[in-house]
Amino acid sequence: MWEETTTARVREAHRTRDVLIEHWKLLLGNASLRKAANDPDGACMTSFTRYTEEEVRRLNTLQAAYFSKNVEIFEPPLPEGVPERLERIVDSAGIDPSDSVLDIGTGTGILIPLIREYSPAHIYANDLSEAMLEFVRTHYPSVITAQGDVADLALADASIGVTFINACYPNIIDKHKTFTNLRRMLRPGGRLIISHPLGRSFVEILKKNVPFPLDDFPAAETEATELFAPYGFRVSLFLDEQELYLLRLVADE
Ligand SMILES: C[S@@+](CC[C@H](N)C(=O)[O-])C[C@H]1O[C@@H](n2cnc3c(N)ncnc32)[C@H](O)[C@@H]1O
Repeated sequence: MWEETTTARVREAHRTRDVLIEHWKLLLGNASLRKAANDPDGACMTSFTRYTEEEVRRLNTLQAAYFSKNVEIFEPPLPEGVPERLERIVDSAGIDPSDSVLDIGTGTGILIPLIREYSPAHIYANDLSEAMLEFVRTHYPSVITAQGDVADLALADASIGVTFINACYPNIIDKHKTFTNLRRMLRPGGRLIISHPLGRSFVEILKKNVPFPLDDFPAAETEATELFAPYGFRVSLFLDEQELYLLRLVADE
């Protein structure tokens, strides 16, 4: 009985997710909307929005509760083409066996089996949602989990070779504190991969369906350069395809 109810809930969650994706593809079929969603000449963000500590806490609590209730949405089967694009995302980091890898906003750990193929020294998974991390611990017991806001994550200075932020960049509320902290934990020459396997414009659909604010991805390489240089990162790859966003930053030497 319990299994039947769970299977029905998972099916319903997948149906909702797939309807959203179809909706987004239809919208992008509309030329004027496609232009608006992909227009690099549109509003350009050159510094991060600042929130009060209390506001960050409130929005993070809201997100943790939302994601803890929606663990099923992130379980396979994944939408068509996503598994291949996730492989490209992980491949772009050039993981070396000596690297420790950090997956921010890991969710159900969708990247973890792909990261493991490169045999890194350690894998750390961070998330606001305890339910997501419980899923990760059950499926990948060797992964080291850390619950909380990435902005406050306390790994040692220069201890990380590669960091992934997949389908999570828009969700991070305190980006100033986060990128300061990530630069501290990454070693010089370390890679930070910011990605989305459904593309940058998918965020426009999500914005209408979640109860917390979401930021846009940097829409042009120049914007990314300007945004991340003050934190000690340079852009080494900028890919903005309709169904894949991939930004690779390298920590200054
Ligand atoms: C859309 S899900 C993506 C999950 C996973 N990366 C994937 O690709 O399937 C975003 C995840 O980021 C987490 N998250 C949001 N803001 C965060 C923050 N500031 N620090 C750590 N995790 C965060 C959420 O709890 C959620 O599990």
